[in-house]
Amino acid sequence: MKTGNVTNETKLGGRFTFPGTSLTIQRMGYGAMQLAGPGVWGPPRNPDEAVAVLREAVAAGVNHIDTADFYGPHVTNQIIRKALHPYPTGLVIVTKLGARRPADGSWQPAVSSQDLTEGVHDNLRNLGLDTFDIVNYRAMGAIHGPAEGSIAREVAVLADIKRKGLIRHIGLSNVTAAQVAEAQALTDIVCVQNNYNLANRHDDALIDDLAGQGIAYVPFFPLGGFTPLQSSTLSAVADRLEAKPMQVALAWLLHRSPNILLIPGTSSVAHLRENLAAAQLTLSPETLVELDGIAAATVAEKH
Ligand SMILES: NC(=O)c1ccc[n+]([C@@H]2O[C@H](COP(=O)([O-])OP(=O)(O)OC[C@H]3O[C@@H](n4cnc5c(N)ncnc54)[C@H](OP(=O)(O)O)[C@@H]3O)[C@@H](O)[C@H]2O)c1
Repeated sequence: MKTGNVTNETKLGGRFTFPGTSLTIQRMGYGAMQLAGPGVWGPPRNPDEAVAVLREAVAAGVNHIDTADFYGPHVTNQIIRKALHPYPTGLVIVTKLGARRPADGSWQPAVSSQDLTEGVHDNLRNLGLDTFDIVNYRAMGAIHGPAEGSIAREVAVLADIKRKGLIRHIGLSNVTAAQVAEAQALTDIVCVQNNYNLANRHDDALIDDLAGQGIAYVPFFPLGGFTPLQSSTLSAVADRLEAKPMQVALAWLLHRSPNILLIPGTSSVAHLRENLAAAQLTLSPETLVELDGIAAATVAEKH
C-alpha cells in the first residue's frame, strides 16, 4: 500500500476532541457489532478471534469502540468486558439505546423512560462500567434510514439520566437534520451516527453542518454493512494504490471531513489490520474526484 508521511500522531487518522468535552480519541476506531453471531444474534462463531480482534485494536492504539447491548443481545458487551476489562485509561466506549431484541431476533423499539433507563443499567452492568462517556439515542426510523418525527421525549430522558451522572455526553443515531436541531434545543449533542459511505451520500449536507459546529459524524455501514461496497471504480483505484478496496473506502471517509470518525466492523484480525492501515492511505485530489463519482453512478443506476 502506498502511504503518505505517517507519524504516531497520524497513524490512526489523527485525533478528534468531542465538542465541549475533554474526550479526545483517534479518528480510526472500531465497531463491535460484527462480534456477535450471525444476524447479530447469539455468540460469535469464533469467540477467541472476537477477543483477539478487540485486544489487537486497543494494542494498536484504537481508543474508540462502538457497541450496543442489543448486539447479541448482551453478547458483544460481554465480549468487550472479557477482552479489555479493566479498561485502559482513555478508552471511550460508546453505546446506544432505543431498541431491544425479543426471542425471535427482530429489532423492536425500546423508547419508554423505563426502557431507556434500564438500557443504561444493562449496558453498564454487561460492560463493567460505572458511567458512560457517550450514549447515543438510536431512533428506529424507517426500513432504509431515519424518519422525521419528534425525538424530544427520548432525548429528555437521556438528559435526565445525564444529570444523574450515569452518562457524561449524549449523541444521536439514525436521525435527520431536523431531529438533530430539536435535540440540540434540549441538550448538548457531541456526535451523530448515521448510515453513510462512498455509495450512500444522503447525509452530505448534515456532515458539513456538523463539521461547522465541531460535532462528530460517525458513519455506520462505512464499508456497506450487510451489503459490502462493490464498485469497479473503487477496485481500480485500490489496484493503482496497491491497497484493498475496503481500505480506499475508509480512507475516503477520513478525507471527506475532519469531523468523521470511523468505526468499521469486523470479526477478523486480518480485516482489522487492513482497516487500521487504511488511515495511512493518502488520496490525491484527482482520486477523490474519481471516488466522488461512485455515488453519482449509484444514484443514476437506481433511476
Ligand atoms: N447506529 C446504528 O444503527 C448502527 C447500525 C449498524 C452498525 N452500527 C455500528 O457501526 C459499525 C460498523 O458497521 P458494520 O459493522 O455493520 O458494517 P461495515 O463496517 O460497513 O462492514 C462490516 C462488514 O464488512 C466486512 N469487513 C470488514 N473489514 C473488511 C475488510 N478489510 N475486507 C473485507 N471485508 C471486511 C465484515 O466482515 P468480517 O467480519 O468478515 O470482516 C462485515 O461483513 C458496527 O460494527 C456497529 O458498531 C451502528
